[in-house]
Amino acid sequence: MVIDELKKNMIPRHVAIIMDGNGRWAAMHGSNRIFGHQQGVDAVRSVVEGAGELGIEHLTLYAFSTENWDRPKDEVDALMALLVNAIVQETDNLNDKNVRMIAIGNLASLPNDVQSQLEEAVQRTSKNTGLNLILALSYSGRWEIVEAVRQIVRKSQNSEITENQITECLFSDHLSTAGIPDPELLIRTSGEYRISNFLLWQIAYSEFYFTPILWPDFRKENLFEAITDFQCRERRFGKTSEQIRS
Ligand code: IPE
Ligand code: IPE
Ligand code: MG
Repeated sequence: MVIDELKKNMIPRHVAIIMDGNGRWAAMHGSNRIFGHQQGVDAVRSVVEGAGELGIEHLTLYAFSTENWDRPKDEVDALMALLVNAIVQETDNLNDKNVRMIAIGNLASLPNDVQSQLEEAVQRTSKNTGLNLILALSYSGRWEIVEAVRQIVRKSQNSEITENQITECLFSDHLSTAGIPDPELLIRTSGEYRISNFLLWQIAYSEFYFTPILWPDFRKENLFEAITDFQCRERRFGKTSEQIRS
């Protein structure tokens, strides 16, 4: 799959990816799970590059879920260490590629060194004007929705908003993705067919693309394939096919 075969006027503005399969990739290669996570960083680099080349505006990567805290402590510790390393090592590369990085999720629950490296990388890439890379860390869709409800209730109690002002638009503005369009395309690797608590509100009308490829093997060419598939779909938003075509 080459980039030139894609329709330039039908590139999604926002692509979200559930990067899954590192553990199985490691097992297949006779290694421990941590090695699989390390190899996953190469896939991230390639996909970020490909997204930039396509002119995708926002790329959200599910890197660590709220539920992932329940994994064995060794694996969680290794993932946190890997995160710090990857963030430190990749920031220059992100700047070279004009990529702005932000993070969403319960960031306060991350270890202090991860938080501070993350803040530094976010700050150091904040002036970039290309791809907006959104890392979902200690993130879950239900957590985010509950947080939004809390904020709205607080504002209501302070008489900052009334019941009638609570709309879908206002609710979206209280999510961690406020200001970012909903993803048109959601990709999950590793052959699993589930959402695992990712962007529950935002994927209401996303197109889903599932691939058996394990995350460490995923490259920008696979992203281009997913977008080719996306470009062949008819997005109806509840209307009929006839309405869409006319
Ligand atoms: C995805 O790979 C990475 C994280 C969830 C952090 P997994 O670690 O879930 O890999 P599998 O699903 O066990 O193969
Ligand atoms: C989802 O993958 C979370 C991330 C990719 C960060 P998991 O491997 O944790 O998902 P489940 O638990 O198998 O659904
Ligand atoms: Mg998994």
